[in-house]
Amino acid sequence: MAHHRLNAIEQGKGTPLVLLHGFPFDGSIWRDQVERLGQDAHLIAPDMPGFGQSADLEDESKNANMDAYADTLADWLNAKGLDKVVLAGHSMGGYVAFAFARRHPEMLQGLILVSTKAGSDTEAGREGRYKQAAAVEERGAQAVVDAMLPKLFAPATYNDKPELVEQIRAVMLNQDRQGIIAALYAMAGRPDSTPGLSEITVPTLVITGAEDAIIPAPEAEILVSNIKGSKHVPIEAAGHMTMLEQPEAFGDAVSAFLRKL
Ligand code: MLT
Repeated sequence: MAHHRLNAIEQGKGTPLVLLHGFPFDGSIWRDQVERLGQDAHLIAPDMPGFGQSADLEDESKNANMDAYADTLADWLNAKGLDKVVLAGHSMGGYVAFAFARRHPEMLQGLILVSTKAGSDTEAGREGRYKQAAAVEERGAQAVVDAMLPKLFAPATYNDKPELVEQIRAVMLNQDRQGIIAALYAMAGRPDSTPGLSEITVPTLVITGAEDAIIPAPEAEILVSNIKGSKHVPIEAAGHMTMLEQPEAFGDAVSAFLRKL
C-alpha cells in the first residue's frame, strides 16, 4: 500500500492513544479530550481518509471498506514509528477499530469503544446508506446533517449547549462529499464483528451515552458480554457525542483506564 499521510492533532508524551472519529466528523471533535488527556498519554487524533484534511482512500468510493481504513491507519502509525497503541474508536471509528483488531492485533495495547456496535447493517440499513449516498452526491454534507443532527445529542444538550450543536453542524458541513460517500459504502459492507469479540484479549473500555438515539444501549451489552474482562462506563446526560456532551466524565473514564494499563 502506498504511504498515506493523515492529518492529525497530536499532543503529550507516553502511551500512544489514537482517537478515531465517527461519521461524518474529523479529528477536531477530539480537540478538548486531546488537551485534557495530553498530560497522561501521547494523544493522536487523525482525520480518517477522506475526512478533514486527509486525502481520500485510493479506491473508488463505492469499493471502500473498513479494512482499507484500518490498514491505512496501521501503515501511517508504523511510518511514524508507532508499533503499539491504545485505540479508541467512536461509532464508525469503532467499526474501524474492530477491523484493526482483526488485522493488526499485534499493534494493540488496549481498546476503547465509544458509542459503537459490533453488528453489521441490516438489509434495510444498507438500503438507507445507499439512498443517503445518492442524496450526498446531490446535496453534499447537508443531506447527512438533515438526517443526523437532530439525533446526535441528548435532549438537554440541544437546550443547554446550542453552541456545541452548531460547532458539530459546521464540522459535518465541512466534510467532502466523496469522503462521506466512501464511508457510507464501507459501513454498508462491513462484516459482523461479533464473532471476533471473544478474540480480543487486550484491556477494553466500553463508553456509552445513556441517551444515545443512534446506537441503542443493548449494543454495549453485546460488547461487554463478549470481550473478556471489558469494563462498561455509561455516561449520564449524554447522547451519541459523549466526549463533547460530558467531556469531564469522558476524560475521567479514559484517564482511569490508562492508569491501569
Ligand atoms: C457514526 O456516528 O459514526 C455513525 O452514526 C455510525 C453509523 O451510522 O452506523
